[in-house]
Amino acid sequence: MSKTLKRHSNHEKGGKRIQYTTNPNGAPASRSNNLTQSIPTNGIITIVNSDLEDTMDLDISQLKVNEQLKRKYRTLLKNKGILEFLVMFIAPIMSKQQVYQMLINLGYNHPPSKYKSVSIKKLVKILADFIINDESLKLTLPVISFGPRYTVDKFLSDLTLCSRILIVTGAGISTSLGIPDFRSFSGLYAQLDHLRLEDPQHAFNFKIFNRNPQIFFSIAHLILPPDGKVSITHDFMKVLQSKNKLLKNYTQNIDNLEVKAGITTDKLVQCHGSFASARCLSCFTKYPGSKIYSHIQQKIVPRCFNCYNRVKLNDEVSVNYGVIKPDITFFGEDLPKLYYKSIKQDISQCDMIIVIGTSLKVEPVASIVDRVAKKVPKILINRDAIPDRDFDLTFLGDCDNVTSYISQRLGSGWKIPNERYNPQQKLTCEVTDLDENIYRVSSP
Ligand code: OAD
Repeated sequence: MSKTLKRHSNHEKGGKRIQYTTNPNGAPASRSNNLTQSIPTNGIITIVNSDLEDTMDLDISQLKVNEQLKRKYRTLLKNKGILEFLVMFIAPIMSKQQVYQMLINLGYNHPPSKYKSVSIKKLVKILADFIINDESLKLTLPVISFGPRYTVDKFLSDLTLCSRILIVTGAGISTSLGIPDFRSFSGLYAQLDHLRLEDPQHAFNFKIFNRNPQIFFSIAHLILPPDGKVSITHDFMKVLQSKNKLLKNYTQNIDNLEVKAGITTDKLVQCHGSFASARCLSCFTKYPGSKIYSHIQQKIVPRCFNCYNRVKLNDEVSVNYGVIKPDITFFGEDLPKLYYKSIKQDISQCDMIIVIGTSLKVEPVASIVDRVAKKVPKILINRDAIPDRDFDLTFLGDCDNVTSYISQRLGSGWKIPNERYNPQQKLTCEVTDLDENIYRVSSP
């Protein structure tokens, strides 16, 4: 699979697309091989094949109650009770839209404006809460438990016990060094208006690069890695490595700073390549990345000497002839082979996954967390929450602060070897959303 923008549905696994069948009224979905198929529904609901998926740009506010379904759902609820009802209808493969439609069909009111920002897990909980609090149903309620909360203390204790931690990183771990991220308000893509691209991501599009390499080379200097320094978060990963706890770091970053921090090659997968090497697009000669740094700084397209030696006067060559491209994975290109070679095994082996400093907008890296077993703790450390992915615990804030906080809490054996790390720095960790288990770490 080549690098693509995030698909809004998580229904694709292992390259195979799974089709869902659904009733347009929001009846439960069932997995099928593109054929109409029904699941046991007491004959009440007919499942027909439609391609309703979360990818659809559905106007949630336009959804209407289906009165017939409403009566049937409510009768079932009264007769069978909430547990049997939920087991019957909330299939594990049900989409968020379908859960929402069920909520509407039951006659409950959830602001459509909030639809996008709630995860499917939260939506099911909202649905259950509506049913539980619905006095007209007169239900005798079983105690519904969504499992114990994964606390900060439990996470810290797990960190000391885990030995195969998978860390997925993005641009946020390098912003403290002055490298912009991509999608933030002041990120790289917000600085590319002058290029007048239809989409700023086209600056990293392989087809467009081949047609006009100057576009990329006019902006690449903005993300060139600085000399020498790495962030506290890079060094935090190094601490995990030296404690034999790091299974692997899958980084989307192209600054190669993980290597500078001392993450060894057997522990590192640079999912989108890096500036560390480059190659000629025509003869494929490999160059050290540093060979073209000065071109990048001067916004000049670097050309391969071998190729241009062969060109004779008056020869016509294509615009990308002999262009040396850094080994960065552009949109439309395949990820490095190492990614595909190792990801499946690492996903199955990890005993914790920590995602740091990424918006999780680019596939296939964005979906790694969804592929990790349910029992494995999933932690997010980021400035912004990512509501459409399921994390057991989220730390909002600057990742250097969060990793410093973690290190402080774990004691002197976890000191981060970085000149900016201050074991005395005053840091607070406060809950901001108990339902979603989100904490904010900040320095007052
Ligand atoms: P994004 O810019 O999409 O996301 C960066 C995330 O990091 C955002 O959610 C920020 O809120 C967060 N962030 C920024 N600074 C932070 C800090 N100091 N502490 C904590 N969080 C912080 O970048 P990526 O997710 O890495 O492809 O983008 C993925 C890919 O998209 C990149 O690899 C790049 C781009 O197209 C290329 O190959 C160039």
